[in-house]
Amino acid sequence: MVKLIQFYSPRGLKLSRAENQYVWDTNGRKYLDCHTQYGSIFLGHRNPKITNAIKEQIDKIYGAYPAFDTEAKEKALESLSKILPRKLEYVYMLNGGGEAVELALKITRKITGRKKFISFINAFHGRTMGALSVTWNPKYREGYDPFPWDVKFLPYNKVEELEKEVDDGIAGVIVEVIQGEGGLNEGSVEFLKAIREACDKAGAQMIIDEVQTGFGRTGYLWAHQIANVEPDILVAGKAIGGGFPVSLTAVKTELGEKLKEGDHGSTFGGNPIACAALTASIQVLLEEKVVERVAQTGRIFRESLEKVKEDFGEVVREVKGRGLFLGIETRFEPTSILKLLQDNGVIALRAGRLVVRFLPPYMISTKDIEYAVGTLRNVLSQVKEEKIVTKTQT
Ligand SMILES: Cc1ncc(COP(=O)(O)O)c(C=O)c1O
Repeated sequence: MVKLIQFYSPRGLKLSRAENQYVWDTNGRKYLDCHTQYGSIFLGHRNPKITNAIKEQIDKIYGAYPAFDTEAKEKALESLSKILPRKLEYVYMLNGGGEAVELALKITRKITGRKKFISFINAFHGRTMGALSVTWNPKYREGYDPFPWDVKFLPYNKVEELEKEVDDGIAGVIVEVIQGEGGLNEGSVEFLKAIREACDKAGAQMIIDEVQTGFGRTGYLWAHQIANVEPDILVAGKAIGGGFPVSLTAVKTELGEKLKEGDHGSTFGGNPIACAALTASIQVLLEEKVVERVAQTGRIFRESLEKVKEDFGEVVREVKGRGLFLGIETRFEPTSILKLLQDNGVIALRAGRLVVRFLPPYMISTKDIEYAVGTLRNVLSQVKEEKIVTKTQT
């Protein structure tokens, strides 16, 4: 029997079905899903509009080499025009976030002719070799060098260091508006504006990676709107296909016009099913006023977490994030918290070393939030007690 390589530590849960914000295990037990496949099921499990669009597309044509036009592709591009920043006129669709980051870096390298990149401490951009070269975590990098480009990791949110380092040898600066995997660290408006200015001065490209923060997750369509800056290249993935694998790299006109046949490619990138899923997801996003709803629900969720922090200051150091991209930073490793949450019907995930992250779908109700936060309170009481017991025993 073939075994799966264990790149992820197993959660000990076998899932059998899902609907909207809930998943069920094989014993029929229901869970509130605040993991959503790393945030990608943001529009809910088996969203009927997206499932129907995929089914209809399968019945028409589900494979077409990228050189052929399809109605599905035309519709996807038309829909993307409604949500992408206006200056980003060229787009290429791929399958996963790492692939789209890879393309962003390749374009930057090729067009600028420069080989150096700036990334940031705690940044995460994916596992392919280019994306890994700008990913900070030594655990993911170990044993894989040499990396393709010369990357310098600067401290996140430190304007002075940035201004010193971005010169005319730098091809591009890649940044997450809120570092997701790195622990829900929010970039300040000043910092993001400083990257924009430094790139403009040095003739470098500003690449904003919104694989995790994009498509309404933070209560903004794109999180970079918080800082009112415009990227030269935008990378998106996860939620944009409603859970179906789609990602994209969108580039400003001047860059797009310089790219030509053979510069990149992908067999499955932008296939008809992916295009149908993307089109339907954009339709849901706009028709259901997802961004506005997330801003509102996110505020309620965050306020409840703030109260948790007030009551459990011995365990919770800080509430982090925006919209429905939220977490609590704990004062010790939160493995037991995540396990207990799951045992009690709430599936969350970790961010960085110390953050318990909640990435629910947009339709999470106030009742669901009460349930999630109530469960968290019970879990924290239990964990706090255990800590006190272990402390007095040692
Ligand atoms: C900001 C960011 N960029 C890129 C990626 C990589 O995406 P994927 O796992 O789809 O390759 C991730 C995944 O977590 C991410 O959070």
